Amino acid sequence: MTVTEINLITFSPTYTSKQIGEAIVRGTGVADVSSIDMTLQTPKKKRLGSDVLAVITVPVYGGHVAPLALERMKDLLADSTPAVIVVVYGNRAYEKALVELDTFVGSLGFKVIAGGTFVGEHSYSSDRYPIAAGRPDKDDLNFAEDFGMKVRAKLETAADAEHLYGVDVQKIQRPKQPFFPLLRFLWSVIKLRKSGVPMPRTPLADENLCTHCGLCVERCPAGAIMKGEECATIADKCIRCCACVKGCPQKARTFDTPFAALLHDCFQRPKENRIIL
Ligand SMILES: Cc1cc2nc3c(=O)[nH]c(=O)nc-3n(C[C@H](O)[C@H](O)[C@H](O)COP(=O)(O)O)c2cc1C
Ligand code: SF4
Ligand code: SF4
Repeated sequence: MTVTEINLITFSPTYTSKQIGEAIVRGTGVADVSSIDMTLQTPKKKRLGSDVLAVITVPVYGGHVAPLALERMKDLLADSTPAVIVVVYGNRAYEKALVELDTFVGSLGFKVIAGGTFVGEHSYSSDRYPIAAGRPDKDDLNFAEDFGMKVRAKLETAADAEHLYGVDVQKIQRPKQPFFPLLRFLWSVIKLRKSGVPMPRTPLADENLCTHCGLCVERCPAGAIMKGEECATIADKCIRCCACVKGCPQKARTFDTPFAALLHDCFQRPKENRIIL
């Protein structure tokens, strides 16, 4: 079957999930591309047909799909629309996220024909504690483009939408994880939790550095920063995505979580991207 249009559906506060989605789309070679970017808003209700390919890329938060991504996707309806689903994680683990995304998009009417787990720079990565810094890099993006080409080939070998077979994403190969660093991480997390040290709930802003340019207000997916009050953050709204931290030209915003040092220490070995189709 031939698809004439691709819909790139993404939620991507720090732009790694979106970059991977764009590379997959490029790889398919389909020229007619529409984008449903849910990062800053809930998209309008929309029904997608079976002659369209959906490429859905979202980040992993705490081993799950970022909850705001699912919330924003819930009004999309699909009519057996073939879908490529991808979760992007910060080199620690994606745990249940891919299976969760598969179940969710299945309930909206998508037919999952391919899946992927890709690594992106961790939202908590900083100059002091780099975690998968710079990913997706050139190799990751080439791998994503190649995945897109394979998806196209799969579509072309099916006579029609009915003969396009779905995929069991549970069978995707997990990336290699060295045992001792993982043990060290788990042990340190238990110690940290027992210590009762309060975890920061939001990034902090330095009044002396902030120029009130308003970029963080524009880039916050959760509406947690108000215009004119850029040095404050509404804790109940903040999802700790770090878009405001990474996007601040003055480096006025920081998120000083003790997890950053732990993740930096324990997950240094770059994990491989995996696909199934
Ligand atoms: C609140 C939060 C929780 C996260 N949890 C995980 C996790 O469980 N495992 C992991 O490897 N990365 C985790 N990350 C890192 C992101 O999955 C990763 O940086 C991803 O590339 C961000 O996607 P984006 O650039 O599209 O926003 C987490 C990030 C945030 C903000
Ligand atoms: S992006 Fe940085 S400098 Fe600009 S308003 Fe926000 S905190 Fe201030
Ligand atoms: S205030 Fe919170 S939700 Fe908004 S961009 Fe910053 S970390 Fe993300």
